[in-house]
Amino acid sequence: MTMKKLIAGNWKMNGGLAANEVLLRALLAQIGAPAADVAVCAPAPYLAQLQSLLQGGPVAWGSQDVSAHEQGAYTGEVSVAMLRDFGCRYAIVGHSERRQYHGETDAVVAAKAQRALAGGVTPIVCVGEMLAEREAGQTEAVVKRQLAAVIHAVAHCTSEIVVAYEPVWAIGTGKTATPEQAQQVHAVLRAQLAAATAHPERVRILYGGSMNAANAASLLAQPDIDGGLIGGASLKAPDFLQIVAAAH
Ligand code: PGA
Repeated sequence: MTMKKLIAGNWKMNGGLAANEVLLRALLAQIGAPAADVAVCAPAPYLAQLQSLLQGGPVAWGSQDVSAHEQGAYTGEVSVAMLRDFGCRYAIVGHSERRQYHGETDAVVAAKAQRALAGGVTPIVCVGEMLAEREAGQTEAVVKRQLAAVIHAVAHCTSEIVVAYEPVWAIGTGKTATPEQAQQVHAVLRAQLAAATAHPERVRILYGGSMNAANAASLLAQPDIDGGLIGGASLKAPDFLQIVAAAH
């Protein structure tokens, strides 16, 4: 059985009630019955809006982060139970912007992934090297270290995660990894998953980093690229829909 591809939008800190509604209604009007699974990951305050507009339709939704803690005195945090209350299927975990600007370590990211899974939300675990790391020949070592922490934490549930390979130098820069560059890293991640789970083919490994309507098809044609995590292009309905259409 081959898994359906997953196309997930990462709105980041963009949007608003009015703009979200326009975007979501445009998606719903034109998406039809997509071959791929489709989701949008919105800022937490809009999860209720996503639930009311997307419930029962072809577009799932998720958050961009989740607390590593179950509940309690963690001001500003959002728990997995809260995400479940609003119907989230996915939570992005360990996005490079959270690693860079919010000090999230591999251990924190692993704890978040574990908490999400335990609470019934699929973590989309982001890994990826910075430009200096790529130039120093450390790409494989970096992504393997990042994924190893998560595999160690989630153990026998490894086949239930989603992984997103997002080279940091490609995020929001318009510099996409070539399909060959991306495939090379995805193959490394697949091999690492194969050592940890009997069903590595069930783990979707998304590519993220300036994926757009023009380059999606060639990236998604790679054997180990099982979908995309889409930032900028997920804010424009026609672009996001073209990426969804390229995923089959
Ligand atoms: P981008 O962002 O598509 O705008 O490069 C991807 C991401 O950060 O998830």
